[in-house]
Parts: sequence; structure tokens; C-alpha cells
Amino acid sequence: MAGIRRCMLFSFLLFYVTECNSRLKKYNARPAVLATSGSPWPLPRNMTTTQVQYQVDADNFKFMLNTGTPSCDIIVKAFARYKVIAFGPRSETLKFRPNFRRRPNKENTVNQLTVRYVQPCDQYLSLESDESYTLVVTGNTASLTANEVWGALRGLETFSQLILPQGSGMYVINNTVIHDAPRFKHRGVLLDGSRHFLSVLKLKENLEAMAQNKFNVFHWHIVDDQAFPYDSIKFPNMSKLGAYDSNHIYSQADIKDVIEFARLRGIRVVPEFDSPGHTQSWGSSISNLLTKCYKNGSLDGSYGPVNPAEESSYNFLKSFFGEVADVFPDHYIHLGGDEVDFSCWESNPEIMKFMQSMGFGKDYAKLEEFYMQKLLNIISGYRKGYLIWQEVIDNGAKVAADTVVEVWKGGYIDELAKVTSLGYKTLLSSCWYLDYISYGSDWRNYYGCDPQNFNGTSAQKALVIGGETCLWGEYVDDTNVISRLWPRASAIAERLWSDESVNSVSAAEGRMEEHRCRMVRRGFDAQPMNGPGFCPVEFP
Ligand SMILES: *[C@@H]1O[C@H](CO)[C@@H](O)[C@H](O)[C@H]1NC(C)=O
Ligand SMILES: *[C@@H]1O[C@H](CO)[C@@H](O)[C@H](O)[C@H]1NC(C)=O
Ligand SMILES: *[C@@H]1O[C@H](CO)[C@@H](O)[C@H](O)[C@H]1NC(C)=O
Ligand SMILES: *[C@@H]1O[C@H](CO)[C@@H](O)[C@H](O)[C@H]1NC(C)=O
Ligand SMILES: *[C@@H]1O[C@H](CO)[C@@H](O)[C@H](O)[C@H]1NC(C)=O
Repeated sequence: MAGIRRCMLFSFLLFYVTECNSRLKKYNARPAVLATSGSPWPLPRNMTTTQVQYQVDADNFKFMLNTGTPSCDIIVKAFARYKVIAFGPRSETLKFRPNFRRRPNKENTVNQLTVRYVQPCDQYLSLESDESYTLVVTGNTASLTANEVWGALRGLETFSQLILPQGSGMYVINNTVIHDAPRFKHRGVLLDGSRHFLSVLKLKENLEAMAQNKFNVFHWHIVDDQAFPYDSIKFPNMSKLGAYDSNHIYSQADIKDVIEFARLRGIRVVPEFDSPGHTQSWGSSISNLLTKCYKNGSLDGSYGPVNPAEESSYNFLKSFFGEVADVFPDHYIHLGGDEVDFSCWESNPEIMKFMQSMGFGKDYAKLEEFYMQKLLNIISGYRKGYLIWQEVIDNGAKVAADTVVEVWKGGYIDELAKVTSLGYKTLLSSCWYLDYISYGSDWRNYYGCDPQNFNGTSAQKALVIGGETCLWGEYVDDTNVISRLWPRASAIAERLWSDESVNSVSAAEGRMEEHRCRMVRRGFDAQPMNGPGFCPVEFP
């Protein structure tokens, strides 16, 4: 109805005639799911909107820092970014904008967002950061308040989602009051730079999409068996011999670039250097690091996991992880520890001898624990925390108190109960492996998986600090990473941000439809999620 009214109002202008005719025509096709209009994703904790609607003056709109609020590059750059995110790139806007525009009625116009927060800016987001904020849009004043700059970033995203393009350079926003804070502190996306290289450009595009979905951790699974694209300062041969080729390497400058891009958006970069398994690509440059495998009593030319019986292995790890601890500013490093294949260790007489001398018998899980313990001690020596895959705990390693255990296997409901009963901070990713694809609207399954849905005390539940969605790279590269991840990952974004009670798929699907089209409008190749439908073309 609103569209038709506007058309009649403007029909004296030649410019509108074509558009109005098409708007007045009655089409019979209907999408499978009707999109909402002006609903943010993920849903804020407490949001009240009224039917009162204000115009937003895109041309003169200002983001203002309240006097007394400590400025920093994070907020200054966010203001510039959100002007474009909310109102579209300026050149595009001009292309479609008619010469005659209705002058905004000053009474009824929002032309400024005043932002205030209390604490001086941190340089980097951390697990302890406060992302809460309050957003109030009433009359011609809109204000955003937070404790920390990180809350201001989250509030800017929500504000930008409330602004609705009406076509012809017009925007509106409803009277709104929001009190918001995330349910979980760790809301991650894992991308795999080893199975297929992902360019810095695509990583940044993904980080931008993450920020717009309020994800706050980029788990960078940067190396694995297949390739070692990390360009080490101390061990340059690791990428020279371990990458696919010289064009598929992350230089130190690339890594700084990614970390800085993420920092400005309140996203932590947690690198993963997985060992002792998943290290085939390390072996081509670091001699004697990997276990030599035997068959029928003689060397067969293949290699297994890192050799845990050699002191030289630990000397290398100490040196290498010292570099990693310097290069990546986040407190946490992901150390992997998953899927260790024992068969090569079992075949090797040197390892057998070592097992005997240590009194491990034939229990190779003990050997793995021995290795992880030494590695964990090295990392603690650098005053870093670590994340590990669940096997490290399953094998009984003693880990530091601030360790984060990532539950990724089947049977995760029992595993969550077990890991939290041991007192460790825990992340869930088992139900969010987006590299598994299937026909249909699979976001509904991801949406239904809750990381606190296990039998445990409230103290155990409180140890669940969030989760991660994993997009492993066997069948993913620059060509499809965005469309495969988005907006499927958005389902998980809402599960990790919004209140536990926000769990109805039927209540979410219309907002998901709107969110997907909003991502498309903002330039992401986000795939359709709800069956047949369309995104309306909204002229900026
Ligand atoms: C939501 O916010 C309103 C004030 O805007 C407050 O009265 C209400 O108690 C809040 N509800 C919850 C569940 O926090
Ligand atoms: C915003 O206001 C419009 C116009 O009054 C109304 O139709 C719409 O339902 C409101 N939207 C929300 C989310 O309250
Ligand atoms: C790096 O690899 C090259 C070629 O295999 C070799 O000649 C050189 O000694 C290696 N450098 C180091 C530091 O291992
Ligand atoms: C191992 O040796 C036995 C007997 O010497 C032989 O039958 C078998 O084929 C060998 N296996 C492999 C994998 O080489
Ligand atoms: C929790 O325990 C109850 C009683 O043993 C059981 O019925 C229920 O299925 C369990 N829930 C989960 C999520 O494991």
C-alpha cells in the first residue's frame, strides 16, 4: 500500500511513471517465504518498535561521537564504513537519484546518530570484551550507547539494518528501542586455507560478512596435510616447499592485512597450526620432524604424525610457535590435536622403544597425550592460551585452566556434558559443519542446534562460551566460499548471539529471507535459503 500511495504522490514527475506502472500492476507469483521488512539479524535481546516511522536524510546523515567519548581509529573508520553500508556507495546512489526529491520534513527526520561509550578503545577485541549496547531511535534524535567501542560497532550494524531503502534515495526508520548483548562471547567461523587457498580479498569479504552477522572470531585453519601457505619468518622453506605454488602463500604482510581488517570490525583472528597429525606439509622442509613409517620391518617411504620421541621435534616447535605467538596478537592459538593416526607410530621401532622406556605399554593415546602436554607447556611459556579439538581431553591430557576445548565429533551432547564437568571452557561446532551440503533449506537444522542443550549444572552451562561454524576447504575456494557460507552461517550467528528463547524456525524464516536479500543488496553473493522467491530491487 505504501508503495502505491507514494506512486500517486509522485506520478506528476515523469521519472516515476514507468516505475509506478509496474508497481501498480498486480502480479500473482508469491515467494515460498515472505520477507519481513526492517527486522535485524541476529535478533536483539530486547527490541521494541512502534508504527511511527521517520525519514532518514541520507544526503546529510551524520554519525557523531558524543563529546567526552574517547575517539579511536576503530570508531572513525566504522562511521565511514556504515555510511556506505546503510546508504550504498555514493556513485551508485547518484546514478539512480532523480533531480527532484521530496524535501525531508525536518520534524520527522532522523539525520544523526550520536554514539557514546565509556571505556577508552582497546586495540583488539578479546574473550573478555563487552559487546552490549543500547540503541534508541525517537523523533529526530537517534542515540547509541555502550560500555566499550565493541558494543558501539555491534549497535552500528543493528542501526544500519533498521534503515529501510524506499527507492529514489529515500530511507525510513521506525521508532525503536533496543537493549542488546550477545548470549555467547565466542562466535566463530572457521575457514581452511590449506585444502584450497583463499585469497586475502575473499578473506576480507568474508570478514565483512561476519561483522554484519555479529560473528567475532575468525578461526584461520591456515595449514594442513595438503599445503602450508603460511610464510614463516624463521622457516621460509615451510611455505617454499610446502605450499601448492608461490602464488598461493600468505606473506607476513598479507597476514597483518587480514588481522588489521578484522581488528577494525571487532573480530579476533585465532590461527590454527594443527599437530601432531595433519602435518604432512610440514615434513617436506623440516627434516626428521615426522615419524617414518615401516611396513614389514622396513621403511616404506611414507610419513606419519610429528615424531614425539625426538627432542629435536620439540626444539622446532618451541622456535616455530614462538614466531606464531608474536605474529598473531590474539591471546589464543588453536593447537589442533585431532585425528591422530596411530598406525605409523605403531610400525616404527624407535617409537616402540620409546613407549617401553616411558611405560606407556601399547597405549598410543598416552603417547599423544605426552606430545600435547609438551606442546601445551611450550605455548604456556609464551603466555598464550590455547584452543584444542576434543581428542586432547578425550586422551586425558592435563591442560591449563583457561584452555578452550572445541567439540566437533558426533555424540556431542554427551561430550559437552563431559568436557564441562571437567571444568573447561567449551565450544561447539559438531552440528555446524557447513562443508556438508544437502538439498533444501538446511539452515533450519543449524538453527535448531543449541550448545547448552545437554544435561549439566548451571555452572557447566556457563562454561560453554559459544561455538564455531566450520567450512572445510576440500570443495571450497574463492569461487564458492561466500555463497556456500552465507547466509547458512547466519543461522548460527543468530543461535550464538540471540536469546536462547529465540529458537522458532517459523518465526525466523521471514527475517532470514529479508537478511539474505539485505546481504545481496550489500554486495554479497548470498545464496537463496527458503526455496522459490526473489529479492526486490531496491533503488538506493
Ligand atoms: C526490555 O526493555 C524495556 C525498556 O525498553 C524494559 O521495560 C523491559 O523490562 C525489557 N525486557 C527485558 C526482557 O529485558
Ligand atoms: C514500521 O512502521 C510502519 C509504518 O507505520 C509499519 O507498517 C511497520 O509495521 C512498522 N514496522 C515495525 C517493525 O514495527
Ligand atoms: C631450504 O630448501 C632448500 C632447497 O631444498 C635447501 O637448499 C636449503 O638448505 C633449505 N634451507 C633451510 C634453512 O633449511
Ligand atoms: C609382508 O611380508 C609377508 C611375508 O614376508 C608378505 O606375504 C606380505 O605380502 C608383505 N606385505 C606387504 C604389505 O608388503
Ligand atoms: C537429560 O536427561 C534426561 C533424564 O535422564 C533425559 O530424558 C534427557 O533426554 C536428557 N537430555 C539430553 C539433552 O541429553
